[in-house]
Amino acid sequence: MSESAEKVAEQEIDLGPCNAILDKYQDMLGALMPVLQEIQDHYGYVPEEAVFLAAERLNVYPSQIYGVLTFYAQFHLEPRGKYIVRVCMGTACHVKGATRLGDKIQELLGIGHAETTEDLKFTCEYVACIGACGMAPVIMVNDATYGSMSVQKLNEVIEKYQKMD
Ligand code: FES
Repeated sequence: MSESAEKVAEQEIDLGPCNAILDKYQDMLGALMPVLQEIQDHYGYVPEEAVFLAAERLNVYPSQIYGVLTFYAQFHLEPRGKYIVRVCMGTACHVKGATRLGDKIQELLGIGHAETTEDLKFTCEYVACIGACGMAPVIMVNDATYGSMSVQKLNEVIEKYQKMD
């Protein structure tokens, strides 16, 4: 975890929204998945405090919840950046220089795979083929796909997001 991610994690989490989500699912059996999904949608990740609160209110062990959270790749246990930069490291992209793109992100933002910038603006993730091999090498920023990437184009894309809030 980066230093600032730790700082955020140390901050008091407002559990009000978490309680409201749990109220909604209180009497539903098997509600754990939607509860965790909604908690993550709200906070951007699933904070430890939310895990313990959900365990208490749903009458399950925290370890059971962590079992679910670590099994499904969709869940995150740490704060993440506003912009998730995914660098495809699949074969087609790798052959066309994806590693150089990863290195450039490291140079521009100071983060590598699964790391988040201190200002919580960017998270970098190396991913397997995202199914756009014809445009290799490919990156994604949140839902936007950028193909035929070069180091120069990557510079421009990152700059664009740096200027955005
Ligand atoms: S290998 Fe990168 S999109 Fe398929």
